[in-house]
Amino acid sequence: MSFQSEIVNWYLLYKRDLPWRNTKDAYVIWLSEVILQQTRVEQGLPYFNRFLDNYPDVVAFASATETQILKLWQGLGYYSRGRNMHFTAKQVCEIHNGQFPTKYDELIKLKGVGDYTAAAIASFSSNESKAVLDGNVYRVLSRYFGIETPINSSGGKKEFLALAQSLISDQDASVYNQAIMEFGALQCKPKSPECSVCPLQTGCFARNNNLVATLPVKLNK
Ligand code: ADE
Ligand code: SF4
Repeated sequence: MSFQSEIVNWYLLYKRDLPWRNTKDAYVIWLSEVILQQTRVEQGLPYFNRFLDNYPDVVAFASATETQILKLWQGLGYYSRGRNMHFTAKQVCEIHNGQFPTKYDELIKLKGVGDYTAAAIASFSSNESKAVLDGNVYRVLSRYFGIETPINSSGGKKEFLALAQSLISDQDASVYNQAIMEFGALQCKPKSPECSVCPLQTGCFARNNNLVATLPVKLNK
């Protein structure tokens, strides 16, 4: 079975039931991704629910005052993120008439939306074939394919992105992106992953070459 099929099959068996996975609404996905960049899933959940209860769509979010947004953001740290979110919501109302965009090329133009977030929203909301590359994905790819290029070098970023993008080409982008992130978070964990129960163990370069503890390589800058 292919790398991608193994990952997706694993995901269908072991994924966590998380509320932002049951929607195609780009606004809701954006909300979850910005919060999850700031904190872990368990801590982020109540924030996600509070934001959604108070502001069910981007128009409601943009109509709030900055003080109200920052009050809900309290405890997540980095107030600039909360402020940026408010700015982004207003931008969406002005440029896109209150309809949160679902395509990568539009998303990437929004303030505070980088490569990762644009790919996540585009793939989860409209199934656009854009690979997400976060810490989990870097780890899975570098271990399985045996890539020793530092993940925080400019060459490394390009190399991993090209590989990630090539793997997604024939996939259901939404499910596959969620799956590889979840696989990194729960199975191919940073410390002592349980390789002996991993469905990818036979083809895994790191496991076969005793490099699991060494990969991914990160430069001290
Ligand atoms: N971390 C960042 N995005 C996530 C998502 N969509 N599901 C679970 N964890 C995440
Ligand atoms: Fe990760 Fe180990 Fe599975 Fe390789 S065998 S993909 S290192 S969990």
